[in-house]
Amino acid sequence: MPAPRILILGATGGLGRALHRHLSAGYATTSWGRGELDFEQPDSIAARLEAHPFDVLLNAAGMTSPDACEVLPERALLANAVAPQIIAESCHARGARMIHFSTDYVFSGAAHDLWCEADETAPVNVYGRTKLAGERAVLKVSPGALVARVSWLFGPDKPSHPDSMIQRALLTDDLSAVEDKVSVPTSNADICGWIEQLIVRHPTTSGVLHLCNSGVASWHSWAEAALTIAERLGVPVKTTRVQPVTLASLTQLKAQRPLMTVMSNAKLQGLLGEEIRNWHDALEDYLVQKYQPK
Ligand SMILES: NC(=O)c1ccc[n+]([C@@H]2O[C@H](COP(=O)([O-])OP(=O)(O)OC[C@H]3O[C@@H](n4cnc5c(N)ncnc54)[C@H](OP(=O)(O)O)[C@@H]3O)[C@@H](O)[C@H]2O)c1
Repeated sequence: MPAPRILILGATGGLGRALHRHLSAGYATTSWGRGELDFEQPDSIAARLEAHPFDVLLNAAGMTSPDACEVLPERALLANAVAPQIIAESCHARGARMIHFSTDYVFSGAAHDLWCEADETAPVNVYGRTKLAGERAVLKVSPGALVARVSWLFGPDKPSHPDSMIQRALLTDDLSAVEDKVSVPTSNADICGWIEQLIVRHPTTSGVLHLCNSGVASWHSWAEAALTIAERLGVPVKTTRVQPVTLASLTQLKAQRPLMTVMSNAKLQGLLGEEIRNWHDALEDYLVQKYQPK
């Protein structure tokens, strides 16, 4: 079978950039940003896609800030649900496979065992509701599509929580982070490897699949882990200790956040036939490459 031609949407985003770097090394890969395909101009999407040849489309674009979604719900709906549905229709019509990225924020955040793919969804904010609407729309019009839910991404292409905590710790030892909100930090680099396998070795896998590292973290334990690794690597952080605070104390947030959205990756492990490493090991790899590049 010839190597699939891949189209990535979200070229300027953290995950989109990582996917492009990884996949373009081995496959004919094109990446489009908002300039090439604007999700808020739904009438132009189908024709734009029809004019471009591809076999697999990875949709890593969307309105990803919960607070922005909360104040701009119509735009969030276009970006996270309406446009993905049109894209899925296009993919289905041409026999291409769509892999659509979604989020752990489709879950309520109530106390729960690890959330599995089949568990009930009940998002608490506009971001989660529009992402869930996108998942459902994509799978309805393109049953062969794959919805890949991810959580708490980190990697070299966009600063995230560990990067900002390390930056702040270079300036002050007075740091705080939320302790009562938990999920699974997940390496963009690891996602790239799993996605390549899903494209090449599992071309017919469809439905919902959780793509996350193993383990559990709060924003607080994630921050302290990053600071401890950074200190060991010689980064002159002023502290590795972070004051724990509650989510309720962050009164400036516009969107409610779910508290407990730790996803199970058992289905992914079963599919790939390999153990999925812990987020801490993946974080260590990322920080070693950032601060001690070979
Ligand atoms: N980051 C996380 O921790 C996290 C957690 C759970 C799920 N996810 C999901 O993972 C996926 C990738 O996330 P990410 O962190 O890589 O996102 P990101 O860095 O915020 O990138 C989002 C991408 O979407 C593009 N975009 C936004 N609105 C658009 C529009 N109207 N038309 C076309 N493109 C538009 C952005 O373009 P511009 O640069 O022009 O804005 C950017 O390329 C998303 O589906 C997200 O919901 C992420």
